[in-house]
Amino acid sequence: MQTIESIAQLRTLRKQWYKEGKTVALVPTMGNLHAGHLTLIAAARETCDIVVSSIFVNPLQFGKNEDLATYPRTIEQDKTALQQHATDVLFLPSVEEMYPRGLDQQTFVEVPEISSILCGASRPGHFRGVATVVNKLFNMVQPDHAFFGQKDYQQLQVIRLMAQDLSLDIEIHGVATQRAEDGLALSSRNGYLNAHERQLAPQIPQMMNQLKAELVGGAKDFTSLREKYTQQLRSAGFAPDYIHIRDAITLAEASPQDQALVILVAAYLGTTRLIDNTTVTL
Ligand code: PAJ
Repeated sequence: MQTIESIAQLRTLRKQWYKEGKTVALVPTMGNLHAGHLTLIAAARETCDIVVSSIFVNPLQFGKNEDLATYPRTIEQDKTALQQHATDVLFLPSVEEMYPRGLDQQTFVEVPEISSILCGASRPGHFRGVATVVNKLFNMVQPDHAFFGQKDYQQLQVIRLMAQDLSLDIEIHGVATQRAEDGLALSSRNGYLNAHERQLAPQIPQMMNQLKAELVGGAKDFTSLREKYTQQLRSAGFAPDYIHIRDAITLAEASPQDQALVILVAAYLGTTRLIDNTTVTL
């Protein structure tokens, strides 16, 4: 595996791959890799000749009071994991390489409607930061295929919409959420949980699955379902941010006739914000 820090070096390689007719996959990450990230790498490996993974903790997508400074950075461990999963290139740009004019660069990618709801409502500017950096990574790597986790469902829909709206010639893949044995979705932020919180955390997927079973069983009163499960999470010791039942593509409020739904949950456990989701086909 080659580790590349400069865009210029990456472009030289990319030209070579074009000449050789090789297909290229990109798996963007912020590092601190776990089995969830590695399934994206595995899916990329199956799809393309060349697998590029990026590690970049993107300051543009963190709010002022968020965990940019303390976000876990485990680069040596990550390199070993990527190597073991047959990654060809690790792209590891510095903040200066990514944002040479600083974070107040003038050009951004915004997907406003879908970015202002759900996680975007409590994290203003977050999806603008995500869409901008992913678009920059796309321009740098010029992948044929790019892989994202369904774990970050709203992020995946933002990126799909961006790719469509900007006519990007990149196939966007959404890969199923990888979970711990007790059902908790794997996340770099799970490391912030203390032992007690870690024990409580799987109640999020448990509750989500109960709600899913009710929907599959024909329940249609979304408002009272949301209230019931919000209360349940609160009683279990969580501070729920939201539980929503939405159209699986647009993330607009679901209506009783909808057949492709997604349940989205965000809740704090102590100071850690956990998110999860599951799709529901009726
Ligand atoms: P990060 O949180 O490092 O996640 C990188 C990719 O791994 C994302 O596509 C995310 O959805 C996926 N992922 C995380 N946990 C997963 C799990 N349990 N199962 C399956 N996939 C999982 O998401 C980001 O970084 C950033 O916002 C990024 C897209 C890199 C832009 O900065």
